[in-house]
Amino acid sequence: MSDKPAVLFVCLGNICRSPLAEAAFRAEADRIGLDVAADSAGTGDYHLGHPPDRRAQAVARRAGIDISHYQARQVTPEDFRRFTHVVALDRDNLSNLRRIRPADATAELTLLLDHVPGREGEAVADPYYGDDAGFDVTWADVTEGARELARRIRDER
Ligand code: 4NP
Repeated sequence: MSDKPAVLFVCLGNICRSPLAEAAFRAEADRIGLDVAADSAGTGDYHLGHPPDRRAQAVARRAGIDISHYQARQVTPEDFRRFTHVVALDRDNLSNLRRIRPADATAELTLLLDHVPGREGEAVADPYYGDDAGFDVTWADVTEGARELARRIRDER
């Protein structure tokens, strides 16, 4: 692969899980010196243009990362040509992404926790309707997934 890899993380609303996955992945890529682009999007259109949920902002801030400038957007078929990796946070979103993936897609489509040995097929649970503690679980899950994914992309190059 000669082009710089570009990873798109996708959940439902693009205000909780996928912005946190993007933030964790950017931090991990920086840490291991991987030159990569990252973005996030939602399969739904409920929160277009909104910043991440305040609880997501808070858990990222506790890890020293400011995500307050992120803005929710909806995934598009074009994303499957612009990105090298499209990474779903759960199975429902993976199914929806398979449906909108165009025939000439070049991106690899995977589930985030499929990259974590022993956690294949697991979802990053939706924390939106839960309490603040759920966001700590989300952060732990996306951090683990991001670490393994970043390592894999580095090792493929
Ligand atoms: P996310 O969480 O998919 O992790 O961003 C959700 C955000 C909003 C909604 C559902 C999940 N909602 O139904 O509005």
